[in-house]
Amino acid sequence: MSRIFVTGGSRGLGRGIVKAALNAGHDVAFTYLQQRAAADELVAWARTNTPERRCLTYALDVGDPAAVERVGDEVLEALDGVDGVVCNAGIVDNQLAVQMTDEAWDRVLRTNLTGSFYVARHFLMAFLGSGGGRLLFMGSIAQGGLSGQANYAASKAGLVGLAKTLAKEYGPKGITANVVVPGFFETDMTRESMAESHKQFWRQFCPLERMGEVRELAEVVLFLLSEQASFVNGQEIGVTGGLDWAR
Ligand SMILES: NC(=O)c1ccc[n+]([C@@H]2O[C@H](COP(=O)([O-])OP(=O)(O)OC[C@H]3O[C@@H](n4cnc5c(N)ncnc54)[C@H](OP(=O)(O)O)[C@@H]3O)[C@@H](O)[C@H]2O)c1
Repeated sequence: MSRIFVTGGSRGLGRGIVKAALNAGHDVAFTYLQQRAAADELVAWARTNTPERRCLTYALDVGDPAAVERVGDEVLEALDGVDGVVCNAGIVDNQLAVQMTDEAWDRVLRTNLTGSFYVARHFLMAFLGSGGGRLLFMGSIAQGGLSGQANYAASKAGLVGLAKTLAKEYGPKGITANVVVPGFFETDMTRESMAESHKQFWRQFCPLERMGEVRELAEVVLFLLSEQASFVNGQEIGVTGGLDWAR
C-alpha cells in the first residue's frame, strides 16, 4: 500500500488514476481546480467502494506556488507522507502560432509546465526527507509537435526536460522521475478541443484503430508508481496504442 497524490483528479485521466489507485489498495489525495461537485462525487464513490482507503480532495491551482506549498503540506500531514506524485493537471488552449495570444501561451505553460514544477519541487523536499519517492508527469504525443498546439506542445516537451533532469539530480537519493505519454483518450479535454472528424482521423492512424480507455492508462501509471518500476527512471513511457506521431 502506498500514499499517492494526483493533481487534477476530479475528471478525465486523473479521475481514472484516483479510482484505480484506490481499487489497488492505495490511499489517495487528489486536487481539483473548479469542479468541486465532481471531486466530492469521487470522494463519495471512494467511501462506498473502497471504505478502508483514505481518499481526500483539495482545491488547488497548480500555477499558484503559495497554494502548492500550503496544499502540499496539508496532504503530507493528512496522509502521513506521500510515496508517489502524479503531475496530471493540464489544459489546452488551441490556436495557430501566429494567432496565439500572450494569455493563451502563458495560461497553458503556467498550468502544464510551471505548475508541475511547483508540485514536483514541493514533494521532492518530502522525498528527500523520507528516502525516496516517485514523480510522474503527464506528457502527450503533442510534445513532438502538433499543429494548433504550440503552447501545449511546448509545455509537454518541457516536462520531458524537467523529468529527465530530476531523474539525474535525485536518482541517487532513490527518487525516480518519468513521463507517461498518453495517446488519445476520451475525456472532457478531447471532447471539447477535438472535432469528431479530427478524432476519426487519428483513430484511423492509430494501429489499434481506437482511442484509449482511461483504465488502460491508469494501470500503467500504477505500475510506474510501484516498487516493480524501481529501475525505470528518466523515461518517456508511451500509452498510445502505437500512435506515436501526430501532425
Ligand atoms: N485526454 C487525452 O487524450 C490526453 C492525451 C495526452 C495527454 N493528456 C494529459 O492528461 C492530463 C489530464 O487530461 P484530461 O484529458 O483528463 O483533462 P480534463 O478531463 O480536462 O481534466 C483536467 C483536470 O485538470 C484540472 N485542472 C485544470 N487546470 C488546473 C489547474 N490550474 N490547477 C489544478 N488543476 C487543474 C481539472 O480540474 P477541474 O475538474 O476542477 O476543472 C481536471 O481535474 C493533462 O495533463 C493532459 O494534457 C490527455
